[in-house]
Amino acid sequence: MARSVFVLTGAGISAESGLGTFRDKDGQGIWARFDPMKLATPEAFARDPDNVLAFYDLRRRNLLNAKPNAAHQALARLEQALAKRGGHLTLVTQNIDDLHERAVSRRVIHMHGELLKARCQHCGSVRLWPEDLSPSDVCPDCGRAGGLRPHVVWFGEMPLFMDDIDRALRKADLFVAIGTSGAVYPAAGFVAEARAHGLRTCEINLEAADNADLFDERRYGPASQTAPAWVEEFLGALP
Ligand code: APR
Repeated sequence: MARSVFVLTGAGISAESGLGTFRDKDGQGIWARFDPMKLATPEAFARDPDNVLAFYDLRRRNLLNAKPNAAHQALARLEQALAKRGGHLTLVTQNIDDLHERAVSRRVIHMHGELLKARCQHCGSVRLWPEDLSPSDVCPDCGRAGGLRPHVVWFGEMPLFMDDIDRALRKADLFVAIGTSGAVYPAAGFVAEARAHGLRTCEINLEAADNADLFDERRYGPASQTAPAWVEEFLGALP
């Protein structure tokens, strides 16, 4: 029977590529150093767009200097190997980086948006925007200024592609979470939905996530080691 695998990734998969995580135990996470309520909400953007845009400019520049790591590459291999066998990988990421795409994953569902894209609040257009973003920038689609924001889902906003995600979860037979703390819903609730639909569940993480007890299997260690090892083992066991 062809396998259908649903993988959810979080900031931990990009940690070894030099991109920060949000809630590290050692208190060095992004939200320990920056206040999300001042930088990652629509209200913060309305109140102080320059400050919010400067925060995302910093993270965008960081990302342009980062590279995918072995964990991203392993998931790209998994996608191709499953497709060759008539199976399917659904890769959903909470990350706004493009490291999965640069590791040549073909289909990536960014439920929290994408840092390298900008969205116009006037006309709704979304387009690639790898440069800094300022309130005076003019939207190339509608010609108006003052409406461009990072195409990123902020706290209090609805994540993207939730219908696609729900459909994919129902069709899968295995749910794997890699590098996520299980602290933010709705992503943190996917494992419970997976169990309710009869999927086996596996956590690959540096430390146990908040919802670790919901996983049938758990593997701990840096994703650049644990994710490739799990992919090789999983593919090796396929008929
Ligand atoms: N390898 C594997 N896992 C790692 C590594 C690593 N090298 N380093 C850290 N981790 C793990 C941490 O143990 C933690 O479980 O990655 C997880 C990171 O958790 P968070 O920082 O909370 O990131 P994430 O779960 O993706 O956050 C979810 O919160 O602020 C929002 O929108 C933001 O998408 C983000 C969401």
